[in-house]
Amino acid sequence: MDTIERFEQFGQGHVFQFWDSLNEEERTSLLEQAEEIDLKELAELVKSLVGGEGTQSEINYDALEPAPYQPIPDDIESDSRWQEAKQVGEEALRAVRVAAFTVAGGQGTRLGFNGPKGTFPISPIKNKTLFQLFAEKIRAAQDRYSSAIPWFIMTSHVNHEATERFFRENASFGLSESDVTFFRQGRMPAVDFQGKILLESNGSIAMSPDGHGGALRALSRSGALDEMESRGIEYLSYFQVDNPHVQVVDPYFIGFHAQSNTSMSSKMLPKAYEKEKLGHFCVSGDRLEVVEYSDMPDELTAQRDENGQLRFIAGSVAIHIISTKFIREVTSDASAISLPFHKAIKKIAHIDDSGEQIVPNEPNGVKFEMFVFDALPFAGEPMIIETTRLGDFSPVKNAEGVDSAESCRADQQRLFAQWLMQKGVEVESDELGVPINKIEISPLFGYNYESFAESWERRGPEFDLSKEAYIE
Ligand code: UTP
Repeated sequence: MDTIERFEQFGQGHVFQFWDSLNEEERTSLLEQAEEIDLKELAELVKSLVGGEGTQSEINYDALEPAPYQPIPDDIESDSRWQEAKQVGEEALRAVRVAAFTVAGGQGTRLGFNGPKGTFPISPIKNKTLFQLFAEKIRAAQDRYSSAIPWFIMTSHVNHEATERFFRENASFGLSESDVTFFRQGRMPAVDFQGKILLESNGSIAMSPDGHGGALRALSRSGALDEMESRGIEYLSYFQVDNPHVQVVDPYFIGFHAQSNTSMSSKMLPKAYEKEKLGHFCVSGDRLEVVEYSDMPDELTAQRDENGQLRFIAGSVAIHIISTKFIREVTSDASAISLPFHKAIKKIAHIDDSGEQIVPNEPNGVKFEMFVFDALPFAGEPMIIETTRLGDFSPVKNAEGVDSAESCRADQQRLFAQWLMQKGVEVESDELGVPINKIEISPLFGYNYESFAESWERRGPEFDLSKEAYIE
């Protein structure tokens, strides 16, 4: 049966309603898009999600318990468990068994920035972009471990070319070109509330990236996983493109993962307050799950333990270590595991049956996305370690207010001030802890406290902090 007939059979024949007006090239491109769509999968998603529940998976709230985690010890330097983990992590880094992995395929609609989000300027003085900061952290870690840290970046059909171009124009920020690999994630058609596929134009379907959970199958389909395996990579250090604070490769975290019985580990932050918008790490029986803040009933988020501390305290910051072996397993044809789709109700620009362009003011349709944390229940025993907010997390999500560029620039400076004060340097700050004179520390000088402290011992006196200071 040909593609058009199949679409008709599934009630999606309207996708080809402008066929007669299309030229050869447009027809070929529409057919190519159409052939990417698994109509059976889509029909099931429409049935289960559109107008129904938000997710294909069901949560048994009665069985939910807070997930266990490794708290940061009072004195990390003398804690044998953490130091042992660090050693194991450092060995893996020296032996080139770790790759950095950034998911950068999102559309960044809340930020409203024109271009791939990774090209957004974010450092407080030099306006370095998100990609540049990650690249410099990776370079610094490579130098530290006299090693290579291959970097894999997942893009989408919308931003792939622009992302590659940006790296080309900037000579990969000093990284070896052969150590940076880009690959595209999959995409899914958007549908209206009746489940009909939306058209972007006469000859194209409104398609959107299939969520960060699409990373697992995209790694396998794109050949990136083959490349990792051929280079002997065992662990992926997974982080999101909008979080410049992330440690990129953290030896403690890698070590805890390597020593555990799990294929996917996570970092947690103690939630600052009940309603903070972070997913919750929970266990249900022996399965680890992240329950989104919007899915968590109020009576659970409000629960407190005997010390008055929130019971469900462990917030997810979307930082994971994932074993490449696990990705191979879950993406093999024989695998019984598939990540569920979730629906996102969005405003989706499209054309109507008369071919007129509609830019809606209200949500008019549904996009389908997979979430990477839905792989956790399949990964084995939970392994979660605590991290600190400034040390790992200040995302750039919104144009202003909470989690914006402004709040992130302030957080970067709070972190730099903290490092300096730990070295006994006086830093004058305002009542919110932000230094009065702007400070920026290049990742090449220090990409975490330890590397900063070493550089400072050697070169600290060179810098004048009585005015704006870029430390490099
Ligand atoms: P978000 O959930 O914040 O989505 O992505 P977003 O698309 O970037 O932004 P909004 O919601 O439109 O404002 C979290 C991380 O997951 C990546 C993003 O690039 C970001 O690093 N992501 C998200 C993907 O790689 N692919 C996707 O399909 C979705």
